[in-house]
Amino acid sequence: MALNYPYEIKDLSEQENSEILRYFKGIQDSYVRVGPKGYFFTSGFKEDAPKIYNLALKADDVWVVSLPKSGTTWTQELVWMVANDCDYEEAKTRNLMERFPFLEMGMFLKSSKTKDMPNQLSLNITEQEKQIIASMYRSGIDLIEEMPSPRFIKSHLPLSLLPPSLLDTCKVVHVARDPRDVAVSYYYHCKLFLNTNFTGDFNTFWKFFINDQIEHLPYFENLKEWWAQKTHPNLLFLFYEDLLKDLPSAVRNVADFLGKQMSKQQIDRLCDHLSFDNFKTNLSVNCEGIRSLGLLRENHSFIRKGKSGGWRDYFDEEMQQEAARWMQDNLRGTGLKFQTVD
Ligand code: A3P
Repeated sequence: MALNYPYEIKDLSEQENSEILRYFKGIQDSYVRVGPKGYFFTSGFKEDAPKIYNLALKADDVWVVSLPKSGTTWTQELVWMVANDCDYEEAKTRNLMERFPFLEMGMFLKSSKTKDMPNQLSLNITEQEKQIIASMYRSGIDLIEEMPSPRFIKSHLPLSLLPPSLLDTCKVVHVARDPRDVAVSYYYHCKLFLNTNFTGDFNTFWKFFINDQIEHLPYFENLKEWWAQKTHPNLLFLFYEDLLKDLPSAVRNVADFLGKQMSKQQIDRLCDHLSFDNFKTNLSVNCEGIRSLGLLRENHSFIRKGKSGGWRDYFDEEMQQEAARWMQDNLRGTGLKFQTVD
């Protein structure tokens, strides 16, 4: 029997909505906040929220969860490869979006402006591009429900908005990253993807970020829901900065968590496959497949810098202090810490 959706979903005031749309000139037309923590989403989430909450889970599902821009794609490829005995052939021929669908993807594509989009996009496109569009326009939930087991599922949702039995049923890997680097990466993401099409500068973006006016925020509320479960045997909590510092250890960690044996040679080869330079040119993961559809801004790429601490080049003195206070207030008493890997 379907569970009642336990949270209220509220539309933003017209004023707040139009302040956001002044800078986000993509395909969205309205936003919502969900539940007591006020999680921020495009209004397409309204339709999907109860379906996501009621998604039927399978014991062999493997999830990767994170705040956006925390190294999700990198972790997904790592987890998928370990779980699939490093099947390089399949990893090359099947796009990660298809191997590891994004649960709440549908909300980004539902708006009054998108109704005719698939037709507008039917330019001179290849068969592979047609498949990408088709999977983008299907709800992530549908894709996941049709997937054969074991299923691999990506989500940026906080634990409270996911099926309540998730952690007691499935293996979940969470990856976290310093929120200042997340903010910079998210800024470039929202400029890169023309469905978001952020038109302001970083200072303006930071205001939206710290005011929780970007999808999947508030950052710390979302993160702390996962952190609170870090000792749950079905949750593996990773940091982006640790992957940068020592990728082989992260691979071993994931292999242990998934009950897989890997030789040193297998780990070395996988780390090479996952290296930033190889990732940047890997068409299965780098989102370049959608460039010819006109969905990406020129001269920007999805696999961008891959560094820690780059935020220092973007924050002026006042923003640095604001970020430091915000982090201190939210991290107090949690035992959660971020490191910078130079
Ligand atoms: P930057 O924009 O700071 O470069 P997500 O997958 O959650 O959207 O995260 C994207 C971030 O992860 C981007 O950060 C991207 O460059 C970085 N990333 C992706 N693959 C990486 C890799 N192989 N090594 C290091 N960083 C990587």
